[in-house]
Amino acid sequence: MKTTQRLDKILAHMGYGTRSELRRLTKAGVILVNGQKVKDSGIQVDPNKDQITVDGDTVHYREFVYLMMNKPQGVVSATEDNRDRTVVDLLDPIYQPFDVFPVGRLDKDTEGLLLLTNDGKLAHNLLSPRKHVPKTYFAKVEWEVGESVIEAFKQGVTLEDGYVTLPAKLVVMEAGNASEGKLSVIELTIMEGKFHQVKRMLQAVGQQVVYLKRISMGPLQLDPALALGAVRELTETELNSLQNFMIDIE
Ligand code: URA
Repeated sequence: MKTTQRLDKILAHMGYGTRSELRRLTKAGVILVNGQKVKDSGIQVDPNKDQITVDGDTVHYREFVYLMMNKPQGVVSATEDNRDRTVVDLLDPIYQPFDVFPVGRLDKDTEGLLLLTNDGKLAHNLLSPRKHVPKTYFAKVEWEVGESVIEAFKQGVTLEDGYVTLPAKLVVMEAGNASEGKLSVIELTIMEGKFHQVKRMLQAVGQQVVYLKRISMGPLQLDPALALGAVRELTETELNSLQNFMIDIE
């Protein structure tokens, strides 16, 4: 496998400027590779072995980034949209050169755990319908969620379009009561990711979701310290557990 790449490509990827800006920095003599001034920004270097500095700043190369967002309501899980703000608009500009995208979708009115990355292979595996990656949602629902619903979800429910879902685990955290106007609080774990799946599963048993938040995806748990709209990189432990999880379910 080729380990070298064009220096300007590496630096553009790491957010040090466009190719023409990098040519100017090269002319200004501020880009060094292994302590030597670079004369041509198009030279081949190994970003994992060669030491690159720009204006005294050491470049810590990485190909991929993995971000955890606590998605707020009102933004769409897309990279571009003509009408709405997207989850990518919420990111710090330092991540712009990495071209990250959301791994799957949460509805505009859904909150919670969203992974963003530029690692297409990991994203593809996490979203593959064959992998059955569990996703857990916290929801508030009108109104009572009885044993029969829990049992039905265990078997899989038939959605309005005839699709029968995989078995899902429903836990009632707080029982609702229609006459008291009290919502049920539930946690629902599903093994697939059909369009509006949680809402449609509950609709199929006559229930209406009024609040929805994703709290986990595979081994990743939403960090309770992450405020709505906030983003942080996955820790090494989180990334390792995600990668190991994907290997285990190959
Ligand atoms: N199921 C839904 O209905 N909406 C989401 O955003 C995610 C899962």
